Amino acid sequence: MDDQSDGRQGNGRNLKLPVPGKRNILITSALPYVNNIPHLGTIIGCVLSADVFARYCRLRGYNAVYICGTDEYGTATETKAREENCTPQQICDKYYAIHKEVYDWFDICFDEFGRTSTPQQTEVCQSIFKKLMENGWLTENTMQQLFCETCNRFLADRLVEGSCPMLDCNNDSARGDQCDKCGKLLNPTELKDPRCKVCQARPCIRDTDHLFLELPLLKDKLEEYISDMSVAGSWSQNAIQTTYAWLKEGLKSRCITRDLKWGVPVPHEKFKDKVFYVWYDAPIGYISITSCYTPDWEKWWKNPEDVELYQFMGKDNVPFHTVMFPSTLIGTGEKWTLMKSISVTEYLRELH
Ligand code: MF3
Ligand code: ZN
Repeated sequence: MDDQSDGRQGNGRNLKLPVPGKRNILITSALPYVNNIPHLGTIIGCVLSADVFARYCRLRGYNAVYICGTDEYGTATETKAREENCTPQQICDKYYAIHKEVYDWFDICFDEFGRTSTPQQTEVCQSIFKKLMENGWLTENTMQQLFCETCNRFLADRLVEGSCPMLDCNNDSARGDQCDKCGKLLNPTELKDPRCKVCQARPCIRDTDHLFLELPLLKDKLEEYISDMSVAGSWSQNAIQTTYAWLKEGLKSRCITRDLKWGVPVPHEKFKDKVFYVWYDAPIGYISITSCYTPDWEKWWKNPEDVELYQFMGKDNVPFHTVMFPSTLIGTGEKWTLMKSISVTEYLRELH
């Protein structure tokens, strides 16, 4: 067998599965948003460090797979599609190809570089959801959201503009999530004279029901995982700090559904016109992309005894990987391979 110098096997697709008794290392880097061209920040931020680690593991003779891919669902993609006058699927196809090309050019040695808009993603997301539902970790709640009657849809926070409600700030084009002039974080319903960013019409407030993951109920199991793994996996100070800050502020229930079209449909009669929130589905992408790599994906992902999961990401992704994603997996009551080690990069600032 002709092994390549970087430790990948040269004979086409040599699928690696965990071997009991060996060090089996599952490596991921955060899935970049598909809707923009990868910049140095994404590459250095996690792809390159994970690549170096994967090469190191292979040279040491560990059994390592490196998984990545594009994060394709959500408002950002829908907005980009509207801007470029095409469908979200077309946007994803176009930018997925660009991403792949850039990483090939950098010679990044992924075992699989996939994407989240696949039938496999729908399958895994929905089956995890059903388990969470059965186990009673999901609750329903009504929220108020701005709805544009002209566009006939709910508006994501960033798709609303209006006057900043702060008395001494005269910005008349504050966004629904934040006023860039005075820095105030906003709720879109607080804007004075709100406008739909797409058609300029005045949206109205409508009730909309959503599903929430009850993190407070999962708190004990989650804290046990964090305190054990952060020691076993020697988590870095910045990861530990951000995680404990989240725990300390009190774990709130988190909304996992959205009024959008471009996403994984929620398999529930009452919510069938909604999709999952991108931050619920994106980390599940690691699993579904592995399932595109091998039909035996469970040998990697449901095998905490034999597999060590190493995850690489930028700083802003930490709580999703130390709190949200583990809670989702723990909530299924199944035996998932949870993250052992986390590597976090600070933001890359532009150098002049
Ligand atoms: N797309 C996100 C970003 O670029 C990262 C998603 S990481 C994942 O910040 F785990 F959720 F996929
Ligand atoms: Zn509108």
